[in-house]
Amino acid sequence: ASNRTFTMIKPDAFGEGNSGAILKMIEEAGFKIVAIKATRLSAKLAGKFYAVHKERPFYNDLCNYMSSGPIIAAILEKDNAVEDFRKLIGATNPEEAAEGTIRKLYAKSIEANAVHGSDSDENAAIEGGFFFNQFEIQS
Ligand code: CMP
Repeated sequence: ASNRTFTMIKPDAFGEGNSGAILKMIEEAGFKIVAIKATRLSAKLAGKFYAVHKERPFYNDLCNYMSSGPIIAAILEKDNAVEDFRKLIGATNPEEAAEGTIRKLYAKSIEANAVHGSDSDENAAIEGGFFFNQFEIQS
């Protein structure tokens, strides 16, 4: 069955004008955009979004980085969405990302890694709900 994942185009990729190229890769890989917006997180909201990483050494830097500029948030639909999207974006660390993946092409570093992708169906629903209400999601 078709299901959903959640993504963000992060401040590095947005700021360098790579949003269009990244969204093109996403659509060409068969994902349907069912919700999308450009927005900007405060450090506090970034902290809320990434609360699962609160105890990690990179948490503070991550919150500052994610609030450093505008982002695009989107909900995507496809069969096997979560797993297929993680394949499309590649490993968190761009040095380990496979050829042809979004992070291999556009990520700057393990932190400024161009895009986010949910790691489970449960988190996809939570993360999508963080940015969008039910009227903003196409069925
Ligand atoms: P993301 O997949 O959005 O989830 C957590 C984010 O923390 C990750 O992408 C990176 O932007 C950032 N990050 C920074 N350092 C690390 C690290 N050492 N390991 C994992 N994530 C990191």
